[in-house]
Amino acid sequence: MKVERRPAATLYPVPVVLVTSADQDGKTNIITIAWTGVACSQPPMVTIAIRPNRYSHELISRSRELVVNIPTADQLKMVDYCGMVSGRDVDKFRGTGFTPLPASRVGPPLIKECPVNLECVVRHILPLGSHDLFVAEIVASHADEEVLDENGRVDPKRARPLAYSSQQKYWSVGMDIGTYGISRKN
Ligand SMILES: Cc1cc2nc3c(=O)[nH]c(=O)nc-3n(C[C@H](O)[C@H](O)[C@H](O)COP(=O)(O)O)c2cc1C
Repeated sequence: MKVERRPAATLYPVPVVLVTSADQDGKTNIITIAWTGVACSQPPMVTIAIRPNRYSHELISRSRELVVNIPTADQLKMVDYCGMVSGRDVDKFRGTGFTPLPASRVGPPLIKECPVNLECVVRHILPLGSHDLFVAEIVASHADEEVLDENGRVDPKRARPLAYSSQQKYWSVGMDIGTYGISRKN
């Protein structure tokens, strides 16, 4: 039997990313974001939903630049930490031990230890209610060689991403269970 529940954004699992930002003096910050998604392939765009009270919201609205860093499951403690404290109070690079690397096209740094990094320029900011949706174009992307497959694509088995569910639980990604087009007859 179906149970009708209150309307809620129950999409699961969702990826967890670390978004870096910077102010005009080069002071950097990291925020943990679960409400993120792919929005467009040409030009390549992603979305990030951020509450207006976050320090990152202030930095990204001002500079209109950000980097999406995709962490590994091993980095869970650092990922959680970046979602528990504010850059208004602490330096999260210092707190996590992550290493900032200069980006090639934007001001905020890449996180060296995250295997995939997407440099983005914000094209739209949509106020939706509790969150504002940042629609950001990817202007440069980086990946550690070790996480790429033979075709140069990111292999989740090697990149070991983290996922998050509506029960406030972190998940690792398990098996590969098929290939795109599996339903087509030969
Ligand atoms: C797993 C996880 C996912 C989160 N996802 C979001 C999100 O999608 N949007 C958001 O505004 N805050 C999200 N947060 C909360 C922020 O990361 C948190 O408030 C952070 O301390 C804000 O940092 P800042 O003030 O330095 O920007 C999440 C936190 C955790 C732990």
